[in-house]
Amino acid sequence: MDLSQMGENTRSVRAGERLDRRVGGVTTPIHTAAAYMAADDVEGAYRYPRYLNIPTQAAPAEKLAALEGAETAIALASGMAAISSSLLAVLQTGDHVVLQADLYGGTHRFLMAELTRLGIGFTMVPQADAGRLEAAVTERTRAVFVETPSNPLLRVIDLEGVAAMARKRGLVSMVDNTFASPINQKPLALGFDLSIHSGTKYLNGHSDLNCGLVAGPKALVDAVKERAINFGQTLNTYDCYLLERGMKTLSLRMARHNDNAQAVAEWLAARKGISAVHYPGLPTHPGHELAKRQMLGFGGMMSFALDCSPEAARTFMDALTLVLEAVSLGGIESLACFPAVTSHAKMPREDRLAIGVGDTLVRLSVGCEDAADIIADLAQAMDAAGVA
Ligand SMILES: Cc1ncc(COP(=O)(O)O)c(C=O)c1O
Repeated sequence: MDLSQMGENTRSVRAGERLDRRVGGVTTPIHTAAAYMAADDVEGAYRYPRYLNIPTQAAPAEKLAALEGAETAIALASGMAAISSSLLAVLQTGDHVVLQADLYGGTHRFLMAELTRLGIGFTMVPQADAGRLEAAVTERTRAVFVETPSNPLLRVIDLEGVAAMARKRGLVSMVDNTFASPINQKPLALGFDLSIHSGTKYLNGHSDLNCGLVAGPKALVDAVKERAINFGQTLNTYDCYLLERGMKTLSLRMARHNDNAQAVAEWLAARKGISAVHYPGLPTHPGHELAKRQMLGFGGMMSFALDCSPEAARTFMDALTLVLEAVSLGGIESLACFPAVTSHAKMPREDRLAIGVGDTLVRLSVGCEDAADIIADLAQAMDAAGVA
C-alpha cells in the first residue's frame, strides 16, 4: 500500500501505523518495554525509549512526516522540547538567530533564559517579513525562526519569501506550524527546512496530553533528535498512543475547525460591540491574500476585541457556558482566554498595547461543536455583559 499516492484523510488514518500482524489488532499496540532484545547492528532495530526508536513513538512521528511531506519526523515530550531541540541543533555559543517578535511566550522565555545563558545571540524582529528578518541577519546568524499564523493576532508571514531569504543567506529556516496544523499549511513544500509543532494542540486534538513534533530532512531531524536524546525529551509510550489516535482524525477535525471558525469570525465581524476580529479567513484581515496563497484552510484560531471596559469583558468571559475559559488551544472543545493575563501577562502594559494586545482582546480556539451553538453562547455572553 503506497500511502504517498493516497489522500490526506487516508494518510491521517493510516500513515505510520505499526500493526502487529501476528495478533491482528487494527491499532498500533502500546509497547511498554524499556529494553529490547536487538543486536547493535540491526537496521532500524527497536532499542530504548529515550533513543526515540520504539514502535509506539515511530507511529505518530511517521504520520506527521506523511502529512508534512517530510523525509522524517520525531515526536517529543512537548512543543517546547521540539522548539528548544530544534534551535539547539543548529546554534552554538557565539551564533545568532533571527526571529519574529510576536512569538509564543514560552519560546520567548526560552530565548531569554537559555540562549542568553549559552552565549547565543538573537534578534526579535517586530512586524516581521522576509525583508525585515534579512535586515537583522549578521555574519554569525545561522537560523531564522517564525510562527505563522501568530499568537494571538493571527499575523501571517510569507513562508516562501522567508525560505528564499534563508537559502540565499545560508540559514536554517524553522517555522512553528502549531496554529495552522499540517492540514492547513505545508511549510516544507514552501521551502522551509523544519516544521515544528506543539502537538499538544491540533495534532493530538483532545486537550489531554503534552507533546511536540519536528518534521524535516533526515540529516537535520537527526541533529534535533540527538539534542532531544541528550536532554531526555522523550514522549512516553502511552502518550504516543493517544497522539497517534488523535492524529487519525486530524484532517476531519481541521475541516470542522476551519468551517466553524469562518462562521464565528463572520458573525463577530458583523456584530456590534466588537472593535476588531483577527482571522485570516476574513477579507478584511491584512494577511488574507497571503493566507489564501500559502494556507489550505484558515484554521480554528482567532482573536477579537470587545468594545467595552475590562470589567465588562470579564463579565462576558464569566457568562460563557459552552465555551470554556482556559489557556491552550486546538482541542475539539472551544476555549477562550484573555492574552493580556495569560500569554502576554509578563509583557509591560504599554508594550502589550503597542503590539495590539489590549485588555479586552479575547483569543478563541474554535472547537468542533456546532457553529450555531458556539455563536449562541458568544451572543448570550455579550448580552449579559452589555456589549453592543
Ligand atoms: C504556538 C505554540 N508553540 C509552542 C507551544 C508550546 O507547546 P507545549 O506547551 O506543548 O510545550 C505553544 C503552547 O501553547 C504554542 O501555542
